[in-house]
Amino acid sequence: MAGRDTSPGGVAEEDVVALLTRRHDEIRELFDAVESAAGDEGGDECRAAFRRLMRLLTAHETAEEEIVHPYARGAVAGGEEIVAARLEEERRTGRALLRLESMDCSGPARAGFLREFAALREETEAHARAEERYEFPPLEAGSDPEWRRAMARAVRAAESVAPARPYPAAPGGGDGAAGPFAAVVDRAREAPHREER
Ligand SMILES: [Fe+2]
Ligand SMILES: [Fe+2]
Repeated sequence: MAGRDTSPGGVAEEDVVALLTRRHDEIRELFDAVESAAGDEGGDECRAAFRRLMRLLTAHETAEEEIVHPYARGAVAGGEEIVAARLEEERRTGRALLRLESMDCSGPARAGFLREFAALREETEAHARAEERYEFPPLEAGSDPEWRRAMARAVRAAESVAPARPYPAAPGGGDGAAGPFAAVVDRAREAPHREER
């Protein structure tokens, strides 16, 4: 089929937009999993599902901040404003994840957890729709398939070294130089140099 090249192993390599869209779907599925587990006896299942969601969302937002937003900034008309709005949403997502992590999702606290969780879900859904509308189409338009596969590899590499959870109150995270998730990764990379003197 035209445009569907395969890697040397014979497995079809994924396009960057297909990969990012699939991640949005996986995030939706994990929101479902947490909601249906909430209130389980002892809360173990619900806490485990929440940790999976937090890990996936953190990896996804880190990769977008490192690979997708910097590209969109230059490739889209009004890119600066579009990306600034997405980074502000990602900042709120990080804070909400950390708040929810400290809440009980079973027992008497279940209703409060689900209220806060529903608000995060709504914001995350709106955020994903905005990315799919403003940032993903320019990744497809006018770029060749090999470049899009290389972008997908870069996204997967960024995901694989991302932290498991957002960093609480990241110092300097609001300066716009890096996104709220990726800023933590940048600091971690700098750390050995600081110790060298
Ligand atoms: Fe994002
Ligand atoms: Fe996204």
